[in-house]
Amino acid sequence: MASDSKTFTFDEVAKHNNAKDCWIIINGKVYDVTPFLDDHPGGDEALVTATAKDATIDFEDIGHSDSAIEDMKKYYVGDVDINTLPANVEKSKTPLIREVGASSNNESSGFVVKILQFVLPLLILGFAFALQYYGKSSKPNDS
Ligand code: HEM
Repeated sequence: MASDSKTFTFDEVAKHNNAKDCWIIINGKVYDVTPFLDDHPGGDEALVTATAKDATIDFEDIGHSDSAIEDMKKYYVGDVDINTLPANVEKSKTPLIREVGASSNNESSGFVVKILQFVLPLLILGFAFALQYYGKSSKPNDS
């Protein structure tokens, strides 16, 4: 099954996208996990859903153990030519896992933006008032 570092195009790998023939791409490497489907602790569905895309983020988001990463080597069949990876394939399927990670990042930057939205107009207003008072008090009163 495994040949010496064969390089596949994304389209070639993507054809193996079902429970009878299931290849996944993780970190630029291609794994034929068909024999592992029934034994995968995360279920066969998780693996089939991870086909026809770059499954690196999905795989890493689960926090697979070192022994799982060691196990992967048994299913390695070659590499994928990264130039053939469609830019957005990984976004088009199973967004649920990725969004959890993404949302915590967005949350903190969203928080900063909210504070800025609130504080910035206040600062500008304060500055405008300060200018007005300063302008009035520094000008001699003509009348
Ligand atoms: C060759 C590739 C893979 C191997 C060898 C593998 C192996 C394993 C193993 C051994 C576990 C048990 C927990 C651990 O030891 O980390 C596990 C759990 C799991 N895996 Fe994978 N896995 C692979 C790919 C994937 C992919 C692509 C997904 C897609 C999201 C996935 C989803 C999961 C899920 C959801 C669990 C269950 C986690 C839990 O219940 O806590 N796995 N996998």
